[in-house]
Amino acid sequence: MEKTLSIIKPDGVGRGLIGEVLKRLEENSIKISAMKMLHLTKKQAEGFYAVHRERPFFNSLTDFMTSGPIVVMVLEGENVITDYRELMGATNFEEAAEGTIRKEFATSIEQNVVHGSDAPETAEFEIGYFFNSFEIIN
Ligand code: CMP
Repeated sequence: MEKTLSIIKPDGVGRGLIGEVLKRLEENSIKISAMKMLHLTKKQAEGFYAVHRERPFFNSLTDFMTSGPIVVMVLEGENVITDYRELMGATNFEEAAEGTIRKEFATSIEQNVVHGSDAPETAEFEIGYFFNSFEIIN
């Protein structure tokens, strides 16, 4: 079984899209193994997105990610990294496929409602960043 980290970002939480995202996970039989709500500090957001440190959007992204509460989840399934990325759609909502979360709800490349890990190694780091083993249902 594969695991991935999902985040409903401050725009998604603020616009009342938690239920919409959860509904899509459940409709697609994606298992939620852990879930909590957090309001990140700037340092915590910078640590999470450390791989993007040198990117021009880093400061704006970490400001955005600290602008309100987020919902973080561990998702589980056979090909859950790919399956969840398909549900989300491309990072740039203008390029996202019809029917995906980002195509329907994102308002900019930054404010794109959701995050999902892009590979097993990233998922391991990202899950460990927010959850300890006692918080993840087996
Ligand atoms: P996410 O999948 O969380 O990964 C990095 C985030 O940076 C991305 O979604 C967007 O919210 C944000 N971002 C802002 N500008 C860009 C950009 N030009 N390219 C990629 N990601 C961007």
